Amino acid sequence: MSIRKSAGETGRLGIVIGGSGLVGGTIVNYFKSRTTAPIEVRAPSSKKLSIREPTDIRNYLLASKPDFVINAAIANINADEQLSFEVNYLGPINIAKIAAELNIPYIHISSAATLELGPDITEKQHKQFTPGLSNYTRSKLMAEKTLRHLSQNEGLDYTLIRLAAVYGNHDHKIQGIHRMLFSIADESMPVLFTKKGVLHSYSNCRKLPYFIHHILNNREEFTGEDYNFVDKYGVELADLIMTIKSYLQLNYPKEIYIPYPLAKAGKRSVAVILKLLRKFGLKANLPSELVFLKQFYVTQTLNCDKLHNSSFVDPFPDETIYSRLPELIIYYLQRWSHENLISTFEEEVTIDHAFKDRFVNNPEELLESIHNGSMSFFQTTHVIHGQEPDSNEATKPLQT
Ligand SMILES: NC(=O)c1ccc[n+]([C@@H]2O[C@H](COP(=O)([O-])OP(=O)(O)OC[C@H]3O[C@@H](n4cnc5c(N)ncnc54)[C@H](OP(=O)(O)O)[C@@H]3O)[C@@H](O)[C@H]2O)c1
Repeated sequence: MSIRKSAGETGRLGIVIGGSGLVGGTIVNYFKSRTTAPIEVRAPSSKKLSIREPTDIRNYLLASKPDFVINAAIANINADEQLSFEVNYLGPINIAKIAAELNIPYIHISSAATLELGPDITEKQHKQFTPGLSNYTRSKLMAEKTLRHLSQNEGLDYTLIRLAAVYGNHDHKIQGIHRMLFSIADESMPVLFTKKGVLHSYSNCRKLPYFIHHILNNREEFTGEDYNFVDKYGVELADLIMTIKSYLQLNYPKEIYIPYPLAKAGKRSVAVILKLLRKFGLKANLPSELVFLKQFYVTQTLNCDKLHNSSFVDPFPDETIYSRLPELIIYYLQRWSHENLISTFEEEVTIDHAFKDRFVNNPEELLESIHNGSMSFFQTTHVIHGQEPDSNEATKPLQT
């Protein structure tokens, strides 16, 4: 395989697929505003470039002539067979083939779902293909295997980064761990759907772009390799839930552990009720995370020795899901309150009551203040409780 040497810090162009998502958005934000390295990134939306369309991928990449491609696109977790196969498997493989043709690195984001359950799981402990695998897991696992094949046989220069439950800002869809936070804050989790002592790994989204930048600069070391990109220590799910509950000072969930067979039966019953409701025109679905219900009851922690033994230096070595919880809670509660998704915390997190009052009751006067320059909303940077603004914080309006 001929590896294109790192261009060092001379100007480079990268394409990020899935740049509007939680992971892709964090990567784009890093390259746009967190690093001074002369790297330009473009992140075409799925409307502009759908990776379900092989010709579009080809035309776009050949026209852009990038120096690297990062793929963080994913179909919805509970997508059907065809969509899962096309977005999670065919798309990545088509991108990788063009990357090989262009002789540029391809960085692929994958998931802990492709690895066995259990403690201290290494990069080598892949799941076997069995009929019970979800479409998500099967398609991600297939992509991992074909990428390895392309690397070994067709000269692909790639690195695969495997994430566990991702925490960070910018999750527009409210998925994974943020869905759990939402359920607790919304007081819709009365009891614990897990077992005492069940541990999981977590991936800090804020750290990921630093790793990607490093591996792009050091292709010799990282080409053809896969890495479990997770925090060093596993976290007990029940403890995490109870910690969030205590931050929010709520009465629920109670520390009552619902056994898996009961949770599974409950999930089935609710699914039947929702199906019935849909017949009456009410649109309601179970959260897609329930695909992973079993995983709430089984430990899966990933071994990250390979990452730690690499030349990558963790930019925030003390940061964990626990240390970031206060900031994440404030960020998401504010966001969900503003979007009227949650009402429980409106009083606490609504930032400026004076503004709210003017916006609702006196918009003319508010406009007047803006037009005559006595108020400016147009380039504020949001600071949460004196902390540095997060890499993903979009410019926030309306802080006066
Ligand atoms: N979030 C987690 O907890 C977690 C855990 C483990 C692994 N991962 C991995 O991390 C990666 C990113 O996940 P995420 O959580 O950031 O997902 P996400 O927030 O759901 O974002 C998915 C992205 O994929 C794009 N996309 C969907 N269909 C596409 C298509 N046909 N063509 C082009 N782009 C398309 C979406 O674009 P539009 O919005 O424009 O449709 C969106 O930007 C995935 O590989 C996932 O397996 C995530």
